[in-house]
Amino acid sequence: MCNCNKGKFYITTPIYYPSGNPHIGHCYTTVACDSIARYKRMQGYDVMFLTGTDEHGLKIETKAAEKGVTPQEYVDEIVAIFKNLWEYMGISYDRYIRTTDDYHVESVQKIFKELYDRGYIYKGEYTGKYCTPCESFWTESQLVDGKCPDCGRDVIEAKEEAYFFKMSPFADRLEKLLTETDYLRPKTRAVELVNNFIKPGLEDLCVSRTSFTWGIPVTFDEKHVIYVWVDALSNYITALGYLNGKYDDYDKFWPADVHMVAKDIMRFHALIWPAMLMALDLPLPKHLAVHGWITFNGQKMSKSLGNVVDPMILGQRYGADAIRYHIMREMALGADSSFSNEIMINRINSDLANGFGNLVSRTVAMVIKYFGGSLITDREEGEFDSDLISMIEGLREKVDGYVEETQLQNALTEIFTLVARANKYIDETEPWVLAKDETKKTRLATVLYNLLEAIRVSATLLSAFMPATMPKALEQIGCTEEMATYENAGKYGVLPADVTVTKGEVLFPRIDVDKEIEALNEFIKNNA
Ligand code: MSP
Repeated sequence: MCNCNKGKFYITTPIYYPSGNPHIGHCYTTVACDSIARYKRMQGYDVMFLTGTDEHGLKIETKAAEKGVTPQEYVDEIVAIFKNLWEYMGISYDRYIRTTDDYHVESVQKIFKELYDRGYIYKGEYTGKYCTPCESFWTESQLVDGKCPDCGRDVIEAKEEAYFFKMSPFADRLEKLLTETDYLRPKTRAVELVNNFIKPGLEDLCVSRTSFTWGIPVTFDEKHVIYVWVDALSNYITALGYLNGKYDDYDKFWPADVHMVAKDIMRFHALIWPAMLMALDLPLPKHLAVHGWITFNGQKMSKSLGNVVDPMILGQRYGADAIRYHIMREMALGADSSFSNEIMINRINSDLANGFGNLVSRTVAMVIKYFGGSLITDREEGEFDSDLISMIEGLREKVDGYVEETQLQNALTEIFTLVARANKYIDETEPWVLAKDETKKTRLATVLYNLLEAIRVSATLLSAFMPATMPKALEQIGCTEEMATYENAGKYGVLPADVTVTKGEVLFPRIDVDKEIEALNEFIKNNA
């Protein structure tokens, strides 16, 4: 840990609907935010990492009724599953917000009233397409072939008294935010928002409902409950104590540095959330990082298609870190990523077992075999050294840049370029040949030291991404916690010249591809 305080850093995941168990898609955003939070802590930032669950709404009310439990009982059970998964995946959140928490409810009621008093919320009539069996309103564009997108049945034209949030006063400022600042990442997505929503004229947003009760009541009109987005989006500030006495972190941490979401909810975070903040006269978040979807063999993951990938099952088979690595390594910011068990297993084998794991085990084994575990301190430079050493020295800066831009795939690719370079260095320098010649002992020690240094720097930077395994790798190469710092990750020559290594467990066991594919297919079939 670094003592140099670089200031604060506030990062958030979406708050997930506990209407079903978490899947690999929820896992992606959470793991990505966790890795950034860990990296920033390592850099010396005072980090607030927030995640949570969005627990109100008709869908939860209906699901609870189907199960014969209260909505609160229903969400409590699923929230426990979310929290359990996050613990298993090594998610180091600082705060977990539930929209059913009293302090959040209190703040949201005050925010709603404030927006009303400022004239941005008004009472009107909601007209839409209504699906009676689902008790849901839909907009024309949400319908699928003119029918309810949830159940496929006919919809009717219906009206309901509702409160609305005025969007139009913010159109110009929103357009500027999206096109003239670096709020949105990737910025290329601004075009669709401007063309599809701002240019045609921003529609006011319906922010209350009277057709269900599982929600936060409007204090001055109790038959209304506050409809999802005002409740949900506010979590990013209520979790810091905005308009409640539970926490006192708003002044310190707001505005957020990064909100990370997938493209499905970009619109709400790119238009509605900034508009709400503008209406409240609050500072805007610095960045909105939007990633694509994890699809399954090219299809959108969905319960009804029976292709929901359970991260817990995968984690139990291959280790949480391998899953963390795979999903981050596969997803390019802004694009979708097709999940396939085969690609995952092959990647774990090639990058983690053969690439990183092998580098560590070979190097440690050679230090033990040729030097009894502790290197001699004499050195002799040779061919190939300078290339490897300059990569070791330059890696941190490159990774910093990618983490800063929330391009985690590139950050990992960069680290694994050094890992591959180090493996190639073994082939080039042929330590087993050097070992046969007593006069080459100093050269051999130099080669092995350089390899240990490559591992130290890679593993230190990787510890933000794979927090369970990397400390074990560092221990094996004789790198103490004090040495495994961010400062040292930018330098060559940190391990003591007479470093002592220890053989440890296999970091990433090789997976039998055919056997595992069969087992996973069987699993999917049984759970479809
Ligand atoms: N409750 C709202 C968010 C409110 S935030 C103020 C919601 N919840 S959700 O449970 O549907 O979660 C959506 C988010 O989960 C996505 O934005 C993304 O972060 C993550 N993902 C869910 N499925 C995903 C994939 N298949 N792929 C990648 N991410 C996915 O929307």
